[in-house]
Amino acid sequence: MSVVPARVLGLGTYLPERVLTNADLERMVDTSDEWIVSRSGIHTRRLAAEGEQTSDLAAEAARRALTEAGLAPEAIELIIVATVTMDTIFPATACLVQHKIGARNAGAYDLVNGCTGWLYGLVQVASLIGAGAHQYCLLIGAETLSRVTDWEDRATCVLFGDGAGAAVMGPGQPGDGLLSFHFVNQGEHAHWLTLPAGGTALRVTEEVRRRKDDCIKMAGREVFRLAVSGLPAVADAALQKAGLSVAEVDAVVMHQANFRILQSVAERLGIPDDKVVVTVDQHGNTSAASMPLAVDVARHRGQIKRGDTLLLVGFGAGFSLGAAVWRW
Ligand code: ACO
Repeated sequence: MSVVPARVLGLGTYLPERVLTNADLERMVDTSDEWIVSRSGIHTRRLAAEGEQTSDLAAEAARRALTEAGLAPEAIELIIVATVTMDTIFPATACLVQHKIGARNAGAYDLVNGCTGWLYGLVQVASLIGAGAHQYCLLIGAETLSRVTDWEDRATCVLFGDGAGAAVMGPGQPGDGLLSFHFVNQGEHAHWLTLPAGGTALRVTEEVRRRKDDCIKMAGREVFRLAVSGLPAVADAALQKAGLSVAEVDAVVMHQANFRILQSVAERLGIPDDKVVVTVDQHGNTSAASMPLAVDVARHRGQIKRGDTLLLVGFGAGFSLGAAVWRW
């Protein structure tokens, strides 16, 4: 669909060292390994070390992606960081990453759109490369959700994790990259998943902290229902725009929030289990980092190969939905 097809030239990921297991969580809140695994499929998640910021995770993933692409940081013209856990509201985390990796010729900005941020960024970067506006761009998804998690709320604290994934993107060959996409937002449901304080609507005060309004607030059951009811139609629309059938898809990479959501959406689309990439078991929900992390794991497992047709499907706060068909 673009004049110049975009290609992922290098992919890099970074996961913090500390692993938090379900057994660890059993000692922190009233929960059990059995409940967490049966309701979410999550076994472990990573937590950033004290002092380790989203920009640090993003910068390390970016360095690894640049190494794989065989490019110097100076070659990068644009850096987008998709995140909901920016180091500060401003400057943008992408601006900090630009300095940390020494990409002195790059413009930089954040893309804040919950768990779909990286997917929306992928379309943005592919369009810029497609239009001939840029050659080499860095698209990063990075999160330290552990910093905005209420560690006393068992309904949310078992679900989230920290991590980062970065893609160096540049011009590819005809047939590469973005074949189609379809985005939808359901703003009327935005209140089901929010981080109420810290923006201009609600400043962080002692009272706000006591109420934990500076942490993720989620109506899990409603979010679950919105995801499983909304995603199949969005995925279908993207496939239709690409002129492809479900059978022509080699692998599906969905935002990794809950194994049961992956299962349900795949079943409704008629996609066999072996084509569905699952990493939520190891990483938990890493929001905007989840899709690049999942792509990276899948290619190392051999589940994704060059030339494969991928169906990328995301959902998140907003309530934001999106799907893209990508020739890897
Ligand atoms: N351990 C034990 N029991 C628990 C826990 C826990 N960690 N958490 C909740 N429970 C209890 C509840 O209190 C409730 O008890 P009750 O029936 O006595 O009231 C019971 O388990 C069932 O709770 P539900 O919330 O109905 O459980 P559900 O089966 O819906 O699973 C879950 C909860 C895992 C949160 C699920 O709803 C889900 O995954 N939702 C989607 C979440 C999601 O994808 N969020 C990310 C969106 S993307 C983004 O932008 C961040």
